[in-house]
Amino acid sequence: MPYLKMINEYTEAKTYASRTILFLRGDSTLKPVAIELSLPKMEGDKIGCVSKVYTPAEHGVEGWIWQLAKAFVNVNDSGHHQLVSHWLNTYAMLEPFVIATNRQLSVVHPVYKLLHPHFRDTMTINALARELLINANGIIEKTFCPGKYSLEMSSVIYKSWNFMDQTLPNDLKKRGIADGDINSLDDLDRLLIKDYPYAVDGLKIWFAIEKWVRDYCSFYYKTDEMVQRDPELQAWWKELREVGHGDKKNDPWWPKMQNLEDLIQSCTIIIWIASALHAAVNYGQYAYGGYFPNRPTLSRRFMPEKGTPGYAELEKNPEKVFFRTMSSQLQSLTVITVLETLSNHASDEVYLGQRTPNWTTDAIPLAASDAFNKRLAEIEGEILKMNTDKTLKNRVGTVNVPYNLLYPTGDVGISGKGIPNSISI
Ligand SMILES: [Fe+2]
Repeated sequence: MPYLKMINEYTEAKTYASRTILFLRGDSTLKPVAIELSLPKMEGDKIGCVSKVYTPAEHGVEGWIWQLAKAFVNVNDSGHHQLVSHWLNTYAMLEPFVIATNRQLSVVHPVYKLLHPHFRDTMTINALARELLINANGIIEKTFCPGKYSLEMSSVIYKSWNFMDQTLPNDLKKRGIADGDINSLDDLDRLLIKDYPYAVDGLKIWFAIEKWVRDYCSFYYKTDEMVQRDPELQAWWKELREVGHGDKKNDPWWPKMQNLEDLIQSCTIIIWIASALHAAVNYGQYAYGGYFPNRPTLSRRFMPEKGTPGYAELEKNPEKVFFRTMSSQLQSLTVITVLETLSNHASDEVYLGQRTPNWTTDAIPLAASDAFNKRLAEIEGEILKMNTDKTLKNRVGTVNVPYNLLYPTGDVGISGKGIPNSISI
């Protein structure tokens, strides 16, 4: 609410806080049944709020009010997606790991070799993002609703960031999607939305990465004592906790890096974020947001109220009111151009499981790497099969676009599939 007040007062945006109730149907599809839009209201020296609830309507002016209510929700979702799910949870949180790995682990260290493919081009893209996208008065501030408060809001959210919440099973549990712990694929029935493609495909990828990391690390670290007595490994962990993520160094959830399990969990999370998590939030952006009315990033006027000239205009020319309320033409084109660029796979993309030849001569890690690739190929077959299953309504949706964002191998261009090893765009 304090930010909403500042956004509405000191930027061009006119927007709401929003809450949506989605009804989960028996076939796993979700239907929005109510949207609450709220504005801040001063109550003495405290900020309260005043709210209004909208419900679905299909025709006439009420139908357009419902369209606008959904658009205001999407404005918030677009901002959260870009500033938290995309920038903060992948690029920004990973950067300290890239720096500490390069500074503290020698290039022949087994953990360096494990993680190195997952850091390719990440520092480059982060530098570019700071120059063009998230900089003061840059594209994000000009085209997304929080405007000049964008990065400030993102850094406020970082205060409650928790590395351990970035394991996919913990994330699903925390968001109320999983009923209890998911310790293996046998626990998929704990998903409260059975046909949830990101969760189903993601858990397959998550456990494949975990097994690969376990096989690899167990070869080099036979005992917990070997983890404790590895000076490079300990210096690496100390730097990224105390310097890279220094603001969070006293948080109790950090793995202590005193045993093999700490190492396996930490490396699994790092690889998951750099590869699958980023792929899931990045490469579908053009498909979801390229048609701007589906996903506006900014609103410039409030909802027209009954009895006002704005409401009368909505009755006469609803599309004009919709476009005047949401992002301008220039803002829309700018965002579409960025989303198109971000959704592309480069011609030299290196996908999950692929490595440069001769990266190691150790037979057991090489066999584990082959097994990992075999498992990824199996998952590809499983995804293709699920995408043709007509009973799984969320796999292709009503627009008949299959969910391939976690299909490991991609194609050049906007293919909407493929998990690159690293965050490079
Ligand atoms: Fe990205």
